[in-house]
Amino acid sequence: MSTTNGDVLDARGLDTFYGASHILRGVNFRVGAGETVSLLGRNGMGKTTLLRTLMGLLKPKRGSIMFNGCDVTRSRASAIARAGMGFVPEGRGVFPNLTVEENLIFAERPGQGGRMDWTREAIYEIFPRLAERRKNWGNQLSGGEQQMLTIGRALLSNPRVVLIDEATEGLAPKVRDDIWSTLRIIAQKGVAVVVVDKNIDDLVDLAGRHVVLAKGEVLFEGTSKQLRTEWEFVSRMLGV
Ligand SMILES: Nc1ncnc2c1ncn2[C@@H]1O[C@H](COP(=O)(O)OP(=O)(O)OP(=O)(O)O)[C@@H](O)[C@H]1O
Ligand SMILES: [Mg+2]
Repeated sequence: MSTTNGDVLDARGLDTFYGASHILRGVNFRVGAGETVSLLGRNGMGKTTLLRTLMGLLKPKRGSIMFNGCDVTRSRASAIARAGMGFVPEGRGVFPNLTVEENLIFAERPGQGGRMDWTREAIYEIFPRLAERRKNWGNQLSGGEQQMLTIGRALLSNPRVVLIDEATEGLAPKVRDDIWSTLRIIAQKGVAVVVVDKNIDDLVDLAGRHVVLAKGEVLFEGTSKQLRTEWEFVSRMLGV
């Protein structure tokens, strides 16, 4: 089930604080079912804070978050995850003392309505590297393999939307391209993707819509075409 306007995620007027620091300021952020949205902004502008707020890891002081037609503003992160929101945090989160296979088994569960679109086999299909390393320990993986495993784990909860922070940080160009191709496959399978990354050109190719945060406020929102048209303004905000 989606909200009446077809959005899987619809956050309005979010104000989030860290202690006395006012970080998000009246942020509106929506994601349509199956849509890929990029979240842009310079360092410290609030991208991670927004993802953590959407995921329920931080509670907004004001505003509302609708997810799959339900108000999850006050829900716990675990409940939001069960409702179909997957999260790939910055710096990943592979269990070092479990094998690749065990890391995946641990994450596997049906989505809302018992959907099992993603199984371990499906993950091995999109990430053949993980299949080759299924018996390796988490701490024996390269950065790229860890990122694949973390994305694989998020998908195994059969989510409606995945939030991916710093999708390709620290990865070699070839591995980065692998991650981008996978995100395309994920989107083709109908999972909505919210992605944060520093490689703006790649994001413009990947995502249909872009949201730019500056000092915790949304200062631009638009399609790739609109972003190109307003590039002078946007690039100034991004410092590129
Ligand atoms: N745990 C925290 N406690 C206090 N302030 C924090 C905390 N985490 C982040 N901040 C502050 O909140 C603001 C937004 O940080 P956030 O991590 O959301 O930025 P970001 O856009 O993800 O940046 P980056 O591109 O560097 O990852 C920054 O000013 C940061 O210093
Ligand atoms: Mg961040």
